Amino acid sequence: KNIAVIMGGFSSEYEISLKSAAVVMDKLDQNKYHCYGIYIQQDGWFYLDKNGAKHPINKDDFSCTIDDVKVNFHCVFNAIHGTPGEDGLLQAYFELLKVPHTSCGSYQAALTFNKRDFLSSLKPYGILCAKSYHLNQGETIDEDAIIKKVGLPCFVKANRAGSSFGISKVYKKEALNEAIALAFKEDDEIIIEQFLDGTEVSVGVITYQGKVTVLPITEIVSDNDFFDYEAKYQGKSQEITPARISNAQKEKVTHLAKKIYQLVKMKGFSRSEFIFLGDEPYLLEMNTTPGLTEESLLPQQAMAAGISLDALFDSAIEEALK
Ligand code: DAL
Ligand code: MG
Repeated sequence: KNIAVIMGGFSSEYEISLKSAAVVMDKLDQNKYHCYGIYIQQDGWFYLDKNGAKHPINKDDFSCTIDDVKVNFHCVFNAIHGTPGEDGLLQAYFELLKVPHTSCGSYQAALTFNKRDFLSSLKPYGILCAKSYHLNQGETIDEDAIIKKVGLPCFVKANRAGSSFGISKVYKKEALNEAIALAFKEDDEIIIEQFLDGTEVSVGVITYQGKVTVLPITEIVSDNDFFDYEAKYQGKSQEITPARISNAQKEKVTHLAKKIYQLVKMKGFSRSEFIFLGDEPYLLEMNTTPGLTEESLLPQQAMAAGISLDALFDSAIEEALK
């Protein structure tokens, strides 16, 4: 079968996506699948062959003509983090073309990628999250109102971004403006959240061989002030799987992560982040194109569950083709 492993994208997570895609291409069974690395970039979509030649993608049907032979893809393996691979744009495109893909649906991607809308959509179900304040670009910044709502320290985040791009932890009112400007570089809306002082855990929930499966939970202990880009990708953190949490906490967050996956009608891979205040998990976000790099959490969690990466990726394609 021909598999298009799509990578790149339009956001700051471009380089991370290339690393995720490289792991996928390396692990997918070469006897079963013929993998094509497809770059999706602002300035063009193309298949890059082994000799470095670029073959443009025909967007009408997502095909590629290679040496006068038209190649269609049986399935797309999505390794694009951020827009347009994680926010529903490409999902909608592939849905329209009826090209199977390993992601969740376009609605689920758009909803979960919008931190504010995702968290507010879950509040009626009793799911806890940090107090937050939302700002659009150009809106008046009322620092006192922000601090009154979320307190200090607080987190300033781009509302739609990943890998901690644009995130700052703010300790004093004077630092708010700079943090807000940084977050606005990633998105035209931002979210300012209350700091939750507790144990942070990451929970992978995937559909694996037909079954919704919660992977072993990872505890995140950052050497930096929070789990920022350096902590995520440059070793400045300890990622402990399984997390050193009580059985009660483990049961609660496992149940909750699965419930969220099912409430949202997720498909494929997901990884949600929580912070425990006492025994109560507070939801931070859900990633629907979780990183698959050597440093990323979901592959570590799968391996801790005894699932090899080839089996993990193979199952993702099998599920997409169902
Ligand atoms: N956004 C990054 C890739 C992650 O969630 O792993
Ligand atoms: Mg994220």
